[in-house]
Amino acid sequence: MTGPRLTGPVVRAAPAKINLALHVTGRRADGYHLLDTLVAFAAFGDRVNAEAAGSDAFLVAGPHAAAVPTDGVNLVLRARDLLRQRFPEARAPVRIRLEKNLPVASGVGGGSSDAAAALKALARLWNLPEETGTLAQLALPLGADVPMCLHARPLVARGIGEEIAPVDAMPALALVLAHPGAAVSTPDIFRRLERRDNPPLPPLPGARDAKNLVEWLRGCRNDLEAPALAAQPVIGAVLRALRASGAGLARMSGSGATCFGIFSSLEEAGAAAAAIRAAQPGWFVTATRSGGGDAGH
Ligand code: C5P
Repeated sequence: MTGPRLTGPVVRAAPAKINLALHVTGRRADGYHLLDTLVAFAAFGDRVNAEAAGSDAFLVAGPHAAAVPTDGVNLVLRARDLLRQRFPEARAPVRIRLEKNLPVASGVGGGSSDAAAALKALARLWNLPEETGTLAQLALPLGADVPMCLHARPLVARGIGEEIAPVDAMPALALVLAHPGAAVSTPDIFRRLERRDNPPLPPLPGARDAKNLVEWLRGCRNDLEAPALAAQPVIGAVLRALRASGAGLARMSGSGATCFGIFSSLEEAGAAAAAIRAAQPGWFVTATRSGGGDAGH
């Protein structure tokens, strides 16, 4: 028998990306913004399943499936096609299934994380190089967040997101993610920024237990929060709900509209999520935890 050896099905997690702090520090000549961001990944997220098939197929299921484009703009299909361009041996037809648990275009990197998970699953299925660094270099044209989503562990990202430094000894944080259902456009939020030359992140604290980290995060910002609040004032209600339900820190992730709250235990996060969901049945609300720097995912 000739041709690539196929294994499968291969399943890869596509965790939610959370910008615990996001400082916009400049802008490149091509319009992309320079960032300095501390990122963690949640246990909660999407899931990508790839298996050999008679012909290519792409199926989307899950609570947010209806909002996912299934044509050529989908990042999962673009990831598949990018691998085929780069590796001529990656020809075998594949059925890809995406379980969409994350709200679409919501600041938690769902599409980017799906693309990263698809790259990992297909690299395994097609016997291609699977090293994170190799895939990350390849992946940048799919979006500035895709390389960090390939790492899927706590990190600081600079440049437009492609300069990645893993952060060790990060505590696992008890989180609530909340999204009011309002759509925000990332380019629009970047355009609305008043200042593009903000100070970078301060040096990370040496001892990174949850208490120290939250204290450190208080001195940080998400520079996209003010322009996103101006575009979608309901984000303010999300932040207030998280704070009122006991979050030690509440902040928006990415360009929004998802906000996160940090709680002192998973039980408190679970109770807060239940209370917010009861008060706002139209919002997406979930309690989860972020992965620690040593355990990863
Ligand atoms: O790279 P991605 O497709 O996720 O970015 C969407 C848009 O967000 C870009 O076209 C750009 O307008 C804006 N962006 C930016 N600077 C970044 C990332 C994104 O200006 N670092």
